[in-house]
Amino acid sequence: MNTAPLYDTFGRLHDNLRISVTDRCNIRCFYCMPEMDAQYMPREEILSWEEMARVVRVAAKLGVRKIRITGGEPLVRKNLSFLIREINAIEEIEDIALTTNGVLLAAQAQELYDAGLRRLNIHIDTLDRAKFLKITRRDEFDRVMAGIDAALSTGFKVKINAVAVKNLVEEDIVPLARFGRERGIEIRYIEFMPLDSQGLWDKSKVLLQDDMLKMLEQGIGPLEEIPDRDPRAPASEYRFKDGIGQVGFIASVSKPFCMNCNRIRLTSDGKLRYCLFAIEETDLKGLLRDGSSDAAIADTIRENIRQKWVGHEINTVQFVAPPRPMHSIGG
Ligand code: 5AD
Ligand code: SF4
Repeated sequence: MNTAPLYDTFGRLHDNLRISVTDRCNIRCFYCMPEMDAQYMPREEILSWEEMARVVRVAAKLGVRKIRITGGEPLVRKNLSFLIREINAIEEIEDIALTTNGVLLAAQAQELYDAGLRRLNIHIDTLDRAKFLKITRRDEFDRVMAGIDAALSTGFKVKINAVAVKNLVEEDIVPLARFGRERGIEIRYIEFMPLDSQGLWDKSKVLLQDDMLKMLEQGIGPLEEIPDRDPRAPASEYRFKDGIGQVGFIASVSKPFCMNCNRIRLTSDGKLRYCLFAIEETDLKGLLRDGSSDAAIADTIRENIRQKWVGHEINTVQFVAPPRPMHSIGG
């Protein structure tokens, strides 16, 4: 097997793999899913835990060191802790994290922790129950809050992801940061991206990092950018000058970070994607199911990265939204 590191043609090293373990979800955030009649992939199209673990083992040989599990909502799939254990047993993997909406977290936190998971990103955009219902179209606010509490008391390192949509969440920016300051949670504000299944996005609906920074400074106090952060991390991070807490921004729209991208993605139906916004994808499932060797899988991963483009063009007229919605890519 050729185990050379995964550089693309722009010199970017890929050591970070995101795995979407399911396209199903138990809530219906409007910027991701339709309210009713979501289209899901048939079960037989979805990779088994063993197939996913095999991809990680091969990718680890090619220099992948960080894994993030996403969905849909990963906790709706049974026995996720099996995959966590399998990944944890791979010597080269240094870090595993999970992105969840928190609805099922209180019930599963301990099991996930026992399987070796330590880092969670929990997705919630507002602390206002009525607005939560408006955004997610499902009445699960209490379970998400219980999930956050359970995650903290179990001992997880927790971040919160909040999607920043203009004319919707302005009033929520400061309360979320206060909540994070009280509980030692970094809030990460994610600029609304064009990945919704209903084509609702346009640039005027994005609440931008600079606007949120102003709101936080006015509502709470001065912030300073955290120096010497990992240049390949997508979030820009700021700490409150009073020493209490920090926030981060994923400013994919106002400050694209494609040139630092170190990520590849595996969808639940076994496709490799070199970009969140990729139009083309590379099939791995066929190889996983036809007796192909690990070397053949490795070559296919390498080939997908070799095709990687320079970056998305959200801000240009050429931008074309990807043919898959967010819940089947995994963010
Ligand atoms: N734009 C930005 N972020 C989104 N997410 C889901 N849909 C969108 C979108 N259209 C975020 C959610 C989830 C993460 C994987 O991606 O916060 O936690
Ligand atoms: Fe579900 Fe996450 Fe999509 Fe919301 S953003 S509908 S929680 S997959």
